[in-house]
Amino acid sequence: MEKSTLIGPFKQIITMTGIPLKGAVKDSELHIISDGGIIITGSTITKIGDFELLKESDKIAETITLKGNHVCVPGFIDAHTHICFGGSRAKDYAMRNAGKSYLEIAHAGGGIWDTVMQTRKSTQEELTKSTIKLANRHLKNGTTTIEVKSGYGLSVDEELKMLRAIKEANITAMPDLIPTCLAAHMLPKDFQGTETAYLSEIADHLFPMLKSEKLANRIDAFIEESAFSAEDIKDYFNTARALKFDITVHADQFTPAGSKVAVNYKALSADHLEASTENEIEIIANSDTIAVALPGASIGLGCDFTPARKILDAGAALAIASDHNPGSAPMGDLLTQASILGTFQKLTNAEVLSGITFRAAAALNLSDRGKLEEGLLADFAVFHSDNYQDILYNQGNLKPCMVWKDGNLVYDKHN
Ligand code: NIG
Ligand code: FE
Repeated sequence: MEKSTLIGPFKQIITMTGIPLKGAVKDSELHIISDGGIIITGSTITKIGDFELLKESDKIAETITLKGNHVCVPGFIDAHTHICFGGSRAKDYAMRNAGKSYLEIAHAGGGIWDTVMQTRKSTQEELTKSTIKLANRHLKNGTTTIEVKSGYGLSVDEELKMLRAIKEANITAMPDLIPTCLAAHMLPKDFQGTETAYLSEIADHLFPMLKSEKLANRIDAFIEESAFSAEDIKDYFNTARALKFDITVHADQFTPAGSKVAVNYKALSADHLEASTENEIEIIANSDTIAVALPGASIGLGCDFTPARKILDAGAALAIASDHNPGSAPMGDLLTQASILGTFQKLTNAEVLSGITFRAAAALNLSDRGKLEEGLLADFAVFHSDNYQDILYNQGNLKPCMVWKDGNLVYDKHN
């Protein structure tokens, strides 16, 4: 039998259990275990509750006793990133702040295509290395699961290179990496043909490889005037659905259109939504599609935030992700961004924490994480504090002192 370890006492364990997937949440709905403990067996939580009571359990082989005040929360889940890329877009950032728009910069040869050119120059090994580095940086900020998109290759071979790099990075990176194919990020400038011709080439030649090499089970598309239209994407998403891929959409970032597509294709999530109006919000709220706010992109571009308050009040599920990428969201700090979204959109602690834990897990179709309860993965972040409110109050500046992933202490600030 595998040996069990008891960890505690935590001043507070915020379990994130008992909160519905959709809608507004009050802080009084948070389940808080005071002076709690967690028993881990292998990679999972086998018991959680009062530390003194858990100490009496006869199956414990080891006890890790914490001194001082600690608050424990589920490991954060970042459901939308682009952390596999080559080069930098510091020039775009400077140009934007000097008055040029994201789309103007894209039309002038910057933007996504610039990163495509730089990523194509990188080897698979280089991409693996840089992805591991960024993933491990996120881990130290409490993130134990990270979705990672391709989308800077934009040809069958170059997308394969990226997705193989992500698969390889997942072996070594401390967080779990969940790959997504974003070959439909934009029409590559070197493709001789229409949007639909490009998309059918990807569907015909890349989709089978994603299955055979187990490179990704998720298909994403950027629905936007500068990328693909609702009409362009029809056959692509129909093929993806027929092959049983999960679907997710970059939706309503600058113009509203994508969220309707996301709901029509029963996408797991519609991400961005900065330009969503009441109409789009209602469509999402009446669906099972999760709205994913990306405050890092609003901060990076200097744009409006996703109307998260309205989305929650309409009854939708809201996750919050970093969108970490070299262009629109270079910061890559989920906790800081989620805290800031909370201040501007008037979100409760419970809503923000739900958005970066179990609601984000649902956006990735993962039911084994995002809450602290028996049977789920022992993924959690621990903060030096006696009050969970300190976590968001410090707006990302209070860092975890310990992070546990799959039952292992993978980050300890003291060591
Ligand atoms: O989510 N909107 C499209 N894609 C990314 C940006 C990628 C980039 O600028 O490199 C996003 O913001
Ligand atoms: Fe994105």
